[in-house]
Amino acid sequence: MKHRAQLMENMARRRQREEVYRRYGYDVERALDFVMSAAEPLMGRVLEVGTGKGRLLSRLAQQAEEVVTVDIDAGEQRMARLALELEGTAHRVRFVTADAAHLPFGEAEFDVVVSMNTLHHLADWRAVLREMIRVSAPGGRIVLADFDEEGFRIFDRIHRDEGRVHGRVFYDPEEVARFLAQEGGMQVGRRQGPAQWVMVGWKASPAVVPPSGRGWQRSVSRGLFHGSQDE
Ligand SMILES: C[S@@+](CC[C@H](N)C(=O)[O-])C[C@H]1O[C@@H](n2cnc3c(N)ncnc32)[C@H](O)[C@@H]1O
Repeated sequence: MKHRAQLMENMARRRQREEVYRRYGYDVERALDFVMSAAEPLMGRVLEVGTGKGRLLSRLAQQAEEVVTVDIDAGEQRMARLALELEGTAHRVRFVTADAAHLPFGEAEFDVVVSMNTLHHLADWRAVLREMIRVSAPGGRIVLADFDEEGFRIFDRIHRDEGRVHGRVFYDPEEVARFLAQEGGMQVGRRQGPAQWVMVGWKASPAVVPPSGRGWQRSVSRGLFHGSQDE
């Protein structure tokens, strides 16, 4: 009973935060819909980097049979686990507390590696991406999503109004795309969404051809795909 009260309280807190975000212009559900549309289909073994409060994880656990999620912060993972227990999907998730720059997994263990709104928290994003590439199976995908400049402005405003600072490591999304292409030998595409972008890297496999056409355009000169959600 005590545990259930804790679950409910955790969920109520998460919803309250989401209401604040919405008032400032960031709609969590819309952002999750957008990222999931790029992450699906979630077949095979799924790894999430950056559990956080477990918002994306809730969605992943509804779609995938088995998900492993990694975060450096055990406290954040406890909160995420509570949310998933309430949703009845915690049994599908393995929580691993680790630095994603040193993933405790073997090569090519995962078919989909996904990470949302975590890139700007990473002290060394190149080291983490190198690990994400290493654990991705041939024919698999890396799905990265983060705030765009509008998203960062929204969260800067929220934190400023609360007397805090939104911590952010600066990086150039184009450089991230080039890194996946060069270090991972990946075909890379990017889409623009609500205060958010999503990037997908397809790891080469003779049997898998990255999608073309609606929503994803290939820029041959740079080996990148660009697209817009509204295309
Ligand atoms: C904003 S949260 C992620 C949000 C989450 N994806 C969601 O959908 O709710 C960012 C997370 O990245 C984690 N993080 C930061 N650096 C990390 C690292 N080197 N390895 C693993 N996790 C890290 C933080 O502890 C934090 O929980």
